[in-house]
Amino acid sequence: MSSDVIEWEKFGIEIALEAGRMMQEASGRNKNIETKCSPQDLVTETDRGVEQFLFGEIKKRYPDHETIGEESSDVKKPWTDVPTWIIDPVDGTMNFVHTFPFCCVSIGVTYKKEPVLAIVYSPFLDKLFTAKKGQGAFCNGKPMKVRPCKGLSEALVLSELGSGREEERINAVCQNVKSVMWKCHGMRGLGSAALNICYVASGYADVYFEFGLHIWDMVAASLILQEAGGVVCDTKNCGPLDLMSRRILASGTQQVAAEVSATLPVHLELERDD
Ligand code: IPD
Ligand code: CA
Repeated sequence: MSSDVIEWEKFGIEIALEAGRMMQEASGRNKNIETKCSPQDLVTETDRGVEQFLFGEIKKRYPDHETIGEESSDVKKPWTDVPTWIIDPVDGTMNFVHTFPFCCVSIGVTYKKEPVLAIVYSPFLDKLFTAKKGQGAFCNGKPMKVRPCKGLSEALVLSELGSGREEERINAVCQNVKSVMWKCHGMRGLGSAALNICYVASGYADVYFEFGLHIWDMVAASLILQEAGGVVCDTKNCGPLDLMSRRILASGTQQVAAEVSATLPVHLELERDD
């Protein structure tokens, strides 16, 4: 298996770099911007084009592998034990549309439903994050390590408003943000779930939480954070992370994860991905 994963990584990096070139070429020239679940949930022809490109290359190279992607998620595909490439072609589409450089392509590969390979590439920030299960995490080839933050009072916290605008979600976001924001060093919402998690893995930030994500937003970056020595878990009692649960708590240390989990007043139960 491990020699296969090395091969998949080489190929995955090639296609991620090409996806990044597609994003750069299209940047600032977005045509056909459409909305999905809410006026803040956007999709562009680049999101669709990149996903089509990645799926096409993966199917050509590995015909017996499966693919799951954000822009084809209306076709419900079961997540099975076979090697599965789970793709967010553009994570941070709102940023991409506004030419705010915090966006990326995210590629995670699962085998027997466990993440084994992760590639997150931001062409605008010039950062290529990679990890293989049990082999450490790297940014542009350099090993990554989380920051040993001692507690929430010293933490830089990341979270997002998300793209859902239902009343229950808005209330939950407001209550959760309010509960944490005055207890920490500072709070930021930069607009890409995958990069937020990679920034915790880099030690730039200490913790990230969000409700409403999908498996393609978090599968790759979660492996990167774990391989950088961090923790990914459920927001509730720091239980095991369920990639279909639509929520995540990602932290450099167990201590900060536990404090945030205990502080959040609302743990939204959204419609699952499976
Ligand atoms: C979104 C981004 C955003 C997060 C949303 C995601 P997309 O992904 O990661 O930061 O708040 O929950 O849906 O739609 O840009 O791929
Ligand atoms: Ca996306």
